[in-house]
Amino acid sequence: MLLGVNIDHVATLRNARGGVEPSVIDAARIAEENGATSITTHLREDRRHIKDEDVYTLTKTLKTKLNLEMAMAEDIQKIALDIRPHSICLVPEKRQEITTEGGLDVFGQLEKVTEFIKPILDNGTIVSLFIDPEEEQVKASAKTGAQFIEMHTGTYAESFGTKNEEIAFLKLKNAAKLAQSLGLKVNAGHGLNYQNVHRMQEIPGLIELNIGHSIISKAVFTGLGKAVSEMAELIK
Ligand code: PXP
Repeated sequence: MLLGVNIDHVATLRNARGGVEPSVIDAARIAEENGATSITTHLREDRRHIKDEDVYTLTKTLKTKLNLEMAMAEDIQKIALDIRPHSICLVPEKRQEITTEGGLDVFGQLEKVTEFIKPILDNGTIVSLFIDPEEEQVKASAKTGAQFIEMHTGTYAESFGTKNEEIAFLKLKNAAKLAQSLGLKVNAGHGLNYQNVHRMQEIPGLIELNIGHSIISKAVFTGLGKAVSEMAELIK
């Protein structure tokens, strides 16, 4: 399985001070040097973390692939058409949410989704639809022209270690199987961490996992000791 690393949290930290540190470009490079096979950034409508210039620069600096997460917004569609990322992942977006809360309702807006992604597909960018692992969403996704779905693993992650884990896991497994039988390629992501990720190996044919929060959280603590000792040394 391939690993897509989501670096939005690095931009959140940078924006807290409004400067350039920590650099999302460096974060992407380090992720790539350590096994990431793609870099994901979510260009939100409110630009709360990743900014337009980040995606433009990443397009030039990445050695792997840029996966641009985006909502069905016209201005962001224009950017996607302009920068031609390797892939986009279409997500639902609510202004007040802390992170992407649920999958995209492809079933309920099949025509709208199909029309929205058409120019992006025609422009040579791969399209993935971020959906809940529901039969109707998978079947609808297969009708849109998108090559991929990304299954929302949030419910599985939340139920991990509880009596509901198996139900949530089987939903993912069955949705992946259905999607593959309909010709879709399948990725997964959201809420995956160092404890729960191993069960993704039990889903045949999964291509890529997109992981952000747990990796950046771990990076804080694997790096904090060194950062403190370096500063302590400097001011001794
Ligand atoms: N995939 C999608 C479509 C997402 O919206 C997110 C969160 O931005 C992720 C994967 C990564 O989720 P997490 O940060 O919980 O690993």
